[in-house]
Amino acid sequence: MIGLWRTRSRTAQADAPEVMLATRDTPPAAPTVADVHPAEPPRQSFAVPGGPAFARQKQVNGADDALSLPAERRSPFTPTQPVQSADSLIGRRDLIERAIAAIELERAHVAIFGERGHGKTSLANIVAGLAEEAGFGVVRQACSAGASFSDLIGEVLDKIPTRYISRADDEPGVAGAPATGWTVATATAALRRIRFGHVLIFIDEFDRLAAQNARRDMAELLKNCSDMALRASFVLIGVAESLGELLSLHQSIHRNLVALPMPLLTDADLATLLTQGCERLGLALEWEAEKLLLQLAHQSPYTAQKLGLLATVHTQRRGDKTVTKADAAAAARQLMEESRPVFASLLDPLPLDRKSPDGVIWADLLYEAARAPCDGFGWFTAKDVNVPHCEDDLATLTRPDAGPLLRARRLSGRVEFAFTRANLRNYMLLRGAERSGVI
Ligand SMILES: Nc1ncnc2c1ncn2[C@@H]1O[C@H](COP(=O)(O)OP(=O)(O)OP(=O)(O)O)[C@@H](O)[C@H]1O
Ligand SMILES: [Mg+2]
Repeated sequence: MIGLWRTRSRTAQADAPEVMLATRDTPPAAPTVADVHPAEPPRQSFAVPGGPAFARQKQVNGADDALSLPAERRSPFTPTQPVQSADSLIGRRDLIERAIAAIELERAHVAIFGERGHGKTSLANIVAGLAEEAGFGVVRQACSAGASFSDLIGEVLDKIPTRYISRADDEPGVAGAPATGWTVATATAALRRIRFGHVLIFIDEFDRLAAQNARRDMAELLKNCSDMALRASFVLIGVAESLGELLSLHQSIHRNLVALPMPLLTDADLATLLTQGCERLGLALEWEAEKLLLQLAHQSPYTAQKLGLLATVHTQRRGDKTVTKADAAAAARQLMEESRPVFASLLDPLPLDRKSPDGVIWADLLYEAARAPCDGFGWFTAKDVNVPHCEDDLATLTRPDAGPLLRARRLSGRVEFAFTRANLRNYMLLRGAERSGVI
């Protein structure tokens, strides 16, 4: 099972058929609506030619154009920002296609979940852009820490553009919050008033929704939307390892919800990310430099973006046009120094560089564990680690007095390990590379 994600995602991308996606001509708007609202101005296309796209929706005149288009950036490497445009999103074609099919064909809700920094928001941005391109109404909401169901839904309902909502005089406005706050029943009634087009509601940082019963209420609301065939679908995005961890699953919500776990990227994807970024800067990437960057990024899109940014800055400072292995190594040392304070409280109390009674130097073991091939969520077994018979030593690192630096799970009778914190694996790689003179 190890490598399932890695294999799946590589295969899916390598074998992805060139899809020709149906684009319906925009049907003429209903006379009553067209009379009232002027035609929409043309939108900038998010879609890559020939790439996956939603089929064109019936136009709702005057639909919200306010959602911002990608801003100009100084570098194509964006470690601090989620990807905004389809041509900068590397890989993920299979996930985009799955999200489109789920929303468009199945009218299902979607849950995008996975580890921090794997690219959940980036994927959601592109799906949202494609949906807007096709004429869906799109609402984007980031859940704030400790928000209640009523807070979250109130903000979402406020953002639904009025063009999508029934304008019958005798019905109250969608955002008219009940004095006692929103409940599942009142929120369902409000969403029922979406009478034009179809509205996609993206809720990022959904794992922050911590108030008691809030996730159960969300599951209930999703179920209502499906059962009543309302013109609204939800895309929930959050840090979680499983769907059940993200959402308190309603008995039969499974049928209405498509789960999209976000794996790490493949090495081939990261190579594309690095070379594409260098090309945009007019730089060449030396093969040795690429090899080192791939090794240190180890499938992490965030680390690849960060190392790409730092390495190309070094190249440009030298006034050169080729990113060399020395630039890559300098970038790696810089990232290691910048990351040191992040992990100081976790690592500094541990005797990592001393030999344990059974002869293990934890720093060496951690370096090998960080280098080990892993699945899309960072899980590996002792056999993947280039240290013989290390299962007990790895298990020791899962103890609270050892950080813990690793966590363990038993799957199909086999013990698997993963680093406990986002980016800890990459940090251990950087430290190990420095110790062994690679950088
Ligand atoms: N497919 C991709 N192609 C290129 N860059 C990517 C891709 N996915 C993610 N990135 C980059 O990785 C970094 C993290 O991405 P993003 O913010 O989307 O992750 P996230 O899973 O939403 O993280 P968090 O859990 O912290 O919200 C960003 O710098 C983004 O530009
Ligand atoms: Mg995010």
